[in-house]
Amino acid sequence: LAAALNLYMPVPMEVVLVTRETSDTRTFRCQPVDGGRVAFAPGQFMILSILGVGECPISIASSPLDGPWVELTVRNVGRVTAALHLGPPKGSLGLRGPLGNGFNLDRLKGRPLVLAAGGIGLAPLRSLIRFVHAAGEGFGPMTVLYGARTPDERLYRDELESWRRAPGTRVFEIVERDPAAAWTGPTGRVPDLFGRLGRLEGAAAVVCGPPPMIAPVVSSLEKAGVTAADIQVAVEGRMSCGIGKCGHCYIGDALVCTDGPVFTAQRLRSLGGL
Ligand SMILES: Cc1cc2nc3c(=O)[nH]c(=O)nc-3n(C[C@H](O)[C@H](O)[C@H](O)COP(=O)(O)OP(=O)(O)OC[C@H]3O[C@@H](n4cnc5c(N)ncnc54)[C@H](O)[C@@H]3O)c2cc1C
Ligand code: FES
Repeated sequence: LAAALNLYMPVPMEVVLVTRETSDTRTFRCQPVDGGRVAFAPGQFMILSILGVGECPISIASSPLDGPWVELTVRNVGRVTAALHLGPPKGSLGLRGPLGNGFNLDRLKGRPLVLAAGGIGLAPLRSLIRFVHAAGEGFGPMTVLYGARTPDERLYRDELESWRRAPGTRVFEIVERDPAAAWTGPTGRVPDLFGRLGRLEGAAAVVCGPPPMIAPVVSSLEKAGVTAADIQVAVEGRMSCGIGKCGHCYIGDALVCTDGPVFTAQRLRSLGGL
């Protein structure tokens, strides 16, 4: 295990592949410089560190079964993310982690899965989708719901098509608006897709997206029959140290970085975060 030997110390990484997702978002495949392997579970995150610039938390977007690397899908919004997009100087890129609890895979096995994502929230769910497709056995049929602001802001466009074709997988997409008027799918928000799904009793769900999306999606899932204990929400709030030391990431009395970032909707509600 290359990473995680010392959670304070970034493991030196090199970017071996960059994929353009949208005008401001790219996926970076990062491999340990020492040739080691990053071991992690879907739903965990890394702290991206660029020497002389700073650090920020980023979800792991690849599956642990993909290879020795981690893939991070990063939106260029500020200092650290811009430095990564520019191409950090040799020797300045590091990752700390993997951090956080990840998805509870035992609670997802053997039942229909409903995965709901908005915007860049599809990144941690991509890790899970790729893992379920590769691991296969033990997992039930999967429904992926994905909402983006515009068609051009959708991530993983080629992969969305391959997921659609995968056995036991349904993909429903929705966009808020279509400036180019070329979108043939529905417009609206993720909760608007639930009308197509029917009842979901017995299903297990995973949700990740911008904060305003979480409560309406959880509510739609509950109305369709999924219990709050069976809904896992990956929270992407403010964070600093990532290891339970600085106190920047409290929701109620829970620390998102170490108790989360994945909480059941039941727990999130009891913490006052839903
Ligand atoms: C657990 C977790 C997982 C995340 N996963 C991803 C991911 O997979 N891909 C990705 O692109 N981003 C992800 N983020 C968000 C990412 O950490 C922030 O965008 C990042 O901190 C920006 O760092 P910066 O130095 O580039 O920007 P800064 O210079 O620090 O800030 C630039 C702008 O972004 C805003 N900002 C900073 N942090 C956040 C935040 N957490 N949410 C919303 N706005 C913020 C600031 O207010 C400011 O306007 C994740 C956050 C968390 C907590
Ligand atoms: S980010 Fe520092 S305690 Fe959670």
